[in-house]
Amino acid sequence: MNILVTGAKGQLGSEIQVESDAYKEYNFFFEDSKSLDITQSEIIKNYITEHNISVVINCAAYTAVDKAESEIEKAEAVNVLGVKNILLALVKVKNSKLIHISTDYVFNGTNHIPYKETDDVDPIGIYGKTKRVGEELILNSMIDGIIIRTSWVYSSFGNNFVKTMMRLGEERENLNVIFDQIGSPTYAKDLANLCLFLLDKDFQNRSKIYHYSNEGVLSWYDFAKCIMELANIDCEINPIETKDYPTPAKRPNYSLLNKSRIKEDFDIEIPYWKDSLKECIKIIQN
Ligand SMILES: NC(=O)c1ccc[n+]([C@@H]2O[C@H](COP(=O)([O-])OP(=O)(O)OC[C@H]3O[C@@H](n4cnc5c(N)ncnc54)[C@H](OP(=O)(O)O)[C@@H]3O)[C@@H](O)[C@H]2O)c1
Repeated sequence: MNILVTGAKGQLGSEIQVESDAYKEYNFFFEDSKSLDITQSEIIKNYITEHNISVVINCAAYTAVDKAESEIEKAEAVNVLGVKNILLALVKVKNSKLIHISTDYVFNGTNHIPYKETDDVDPIGIYGKTKRVGEELILNSMIDGIIIRTSWVYSSFGNNFVKTMMRLGEERENLNVIFDQIGSPTYAKDLANLCLFLLDKDFQNRSKIYHYSNEGVLSWYDFAKCIMELANIDCEINPIETKDYPTPAKRPNYSLLNKSRIKEDFDIEIPYWKDSLKECIKIIQN
């Protein structure tokens, strides 16, 4: 089976590249934004035909949440048109499958209990809006697709909160971090292993949307405190409110995802956030 991983130089794509070594039964094709731009419909269509691709793991996305507010067309091109192009190419392939990643930012963050897949969506920023339209395209398509909504992704690859905190923590004596946004982080390596585990699963008659993050719940403040502790960095973390850290894009105050559906449908266990964070920090420090 030939599998295309788009956006392969991003956090998730990079982790899939590493973890895919254990899946010798598949032929993987890893392409980044330069080698395969998903906004180019003819290029995508030709690539999928020429390489006999039957499964796409779409890790390509416009993920700059704040920039998206002023780069609406760019965000739409990747998160909407890019998804459409992949679907149009896959529809021509017999028994094709798509694993697509979406986000907790499709919700407005006013819940007080973890979001289920069946909860109403109401994105409050451009990034979340474009990701939601991408989801709708998949839900309305004929493709056997699975949409995995995830949150607060970090990795030893790329730029993310964990690496930023570790860098700033070494440079400064104290840092202000928001305590009134609640969610759960996701180690991209855990998510990568989930994507690979799903490859031989039958998507037919399954639910299309699944929620996935690491287990547990915390604020960015708690996350930052724990990063300093585990990385052995002597930097004081001060809790601040969202209103004291203005950003171009609004973020949901509460974006905890209920993961019961994916655990029950696929009989999986999900790592606790602190265990995964420990593992990632060790890799970063080595
Ligand atoms: N990061 C998070 O906190 C987070 C949270 C929730 C959900 N998600 C979702 O999780 C998925 C993976 O995110 P990630 O953290 O791995 O993102 P990432 O590190 O930003 O990677 C995204 C990749 O997509 C590539 N890309 C952008 N435009 C492209 C195009 N036109 N054609 C092909 N590739 C293109 C980027 O390449 P360039 O760098 O060259 O542009 C980048 O390598 C995304 O769907 C994202 O929406 C992420």
